[in-house]
Amino acid sequence: MSEQTRPSVTVTKDGPYVVTGIGELVLPDGSTGEAKPRMFLCRCGLSKNKPFCDGSHSREGWTG
Ligand code: FES
Repeated sequence: MSEQTRPSVTVTKDGPYVVTGIGELVLPDGSTGEAKPRMFLCRCGLSKNKPFCDGSHSREGWTG
């Protein structure tokens, strides 16, 4: 397995979770979504495209 696809979750400063190398993304309704090699998942709760980050954290000045 290459370093690029090794499963990992990185918590970024004042931004999203960066998730890499997972096999499946399970959504709140139990369905599965396409797991891309690298995904940015909302950590602030402000995204209009949850569970994905849409950049709202930056526009709103969210910190955490
Ligand atoms: S972390 Fe980016 S919109 Fe929430």
